[in-house]
Amino acid sequence: MNGKKFYITTPIYYVNDKPHIGHAYTTILADVLTRFQKKSGISSYFLTGLDEHGQKVQQAAEKQGIEPQRHCDEMAPRFVELWEKLHISYDDFIRTTEERHKTIVRQILQEVYDRGDIYEDEYEGLYSVTEERFITEKEAESGEFRDIKKLKEKNYFFKMSYYQQKLIDHINSNPGFIQPEHRKNEVLGFLQKPLNDLCISRPKSRLNWGIELPFNSDYVTYVWFDALINYVSAIGFGKNEDEFRKWWPASYHLIGKDILTTHCVYWPTMLMSIGVELPDSIFAHGWWLSGESKMSKSLGNVINPIDLIDDYGVDPVRYYLMREMVLGQDAKFTVDSFIKRYNSDLANDFGNLLSRVSTLMKKNYDGKIPETGDLTISEEDIRTTGESLVNTVETKISSMEVNEAIEEILQYVRKVNKYMEEKAPWKLVKEDKESAGTVLYTAGEALRISAVLLSPVMPNRTEILLEALNAYGGDLNWGGLKPGSELKDHKPLFPRVK
Ligand code: ME8
Ligand code: MG
Repeated sequence: MNGKKFYITTPIYYVNDKPHIGHAYTTILADVLTRFQKKSGISSYFLTGLDEHGQKVQQAAEKQGIEPQRHCDEMAPRFVELWEKLHISYDDFIRTTEERHKTIVRQILQEVYDRGDIYEDEYEGLYSVTEERFITEKEAESGEFRDIKKLKEKNYFFKMSYYQQKLIDHINSNPGFIQPEHRKNEVLGFLQKPLNDLCISRPKSRLNWGIELPFNSDYVTYVWFDALINYVSAIGFGKNEDEFRKWWPASYHLIGKDILTTHCVYWPTMLMSIGVELPDSIFAHGWWLSGESKMSKSLGNVINPIDLIDDYGVDPVRYYLMREMVLGQDAKFTVDSFIKRYNSDLANDFGNLLSRVSTLMKKNYDGKIPETGDLTISEEDIRTTGESLVNTVETKISSMEVNEAIEEILQYVRKVNKYMEEKAPWKLVKEDKESAGTVLYTAGEALRISAVLLSPVMPNRTEILLEALNAYGGDLNWGGLKPGSELKDHKPLFPRVK
């Protein structure tokens, strides 16, 4: 293990409704990236969780006629169960109603207050109930906000404006801080106008489901000021300095582009106020669309990941989501394209290679991995391409080109299938058993490397594949298959879907 560490977070999702493909996507992405890091021997920490305070949750509870805490307690298992089903191996799952979180939120509020960065003021303006924040006239006219009310209230404000220039400077001198590039430009554009201070309280008379302000018990904390703190409260900030130092600053806060401003403006200025280093990087991916619009609970056009998993299995769902979205851009989700992708990449290319290799080894080599004889230029080519593939995948993953990394692996699989067709070991074995064995070994080894590389994306099925080849562990050096070792029986890995 080297000295590097990797700390990755997902947004903490609202518990007002059950999770859909969009939430599953960010969480799978974090899982895949973490698994890649672990494979490279880097110690990593993966945090996800739930955002349980605020108006949306209070309203959802009211609708059901139950207490908000009970609503949260009933909803939380749905997320945990989905993550289990999706084979998400998070290290911690934080809920903002947990005492470990609330204590730290109060502590930070008090600290910011004591530094003079929080003041009281009367404010009159337009308030979007759905977004839970005051909005400008212009925003109100944009038509993007529903449920707008005029409100006049005494509230507490965080001096966000004070940190505006410092934030701009930080963004400019740390090119990777906001990714991808076009999101960084969007934030810089937003910061060209004077930044308003942030209203961080809600009077209990209007909303009482939140963390009480430590300096005025008539108010609760604005849900975003509370929620963002999860990224540090979960890893021991203000409580266990060693643990906190071990993981902070975060390598990546993964988010969707819907919550760019809160993460790239509110959060960094909050950290500046308490004198804590900023995260290395905030990465905003695009949206999964249903038709032309964002898949979202409020639009009611969501796809339930559980149904997909039940119909096609976990790994194909993980594969599709990772392969189909170019990180940073929007992508369309349709069951049709899912099935196409499954059949072409997984059934025809990847699964087929395993069944060809293992069938021929079983039939002609006593169900054992054959020895290799003399290598021709074709075998050398498969080997060197496989070796450089390992580096390519590593580079693509570290530059967040997950879909491209996967495509590189699949291109290699296709190349190996083509090599099999050219060499036709099913014919060759009748004249020259040693050469046919060399071909099968080479194809099998290439398949093994491909499976190891794909294992962060499809941990379950690649494990079955590696077991079938009697190849354990994740060695990425050529030569992991051991001649003479016995193949295991396996079910078809990716049966074609009609
Ligand atoms: O915003 N496509 O929670 P949330 C891609 N609690 N990703 C999507 C998506 C879609 N159609 N829909 C949702 C909140 N997501 C706050 C976060 S963090 C301190 C507080 C994913 O339940 C994406 O990651 O509305 C998006 O940013 C997140 O879910 C929003 O989840
Ligand atoms: Mg949302």
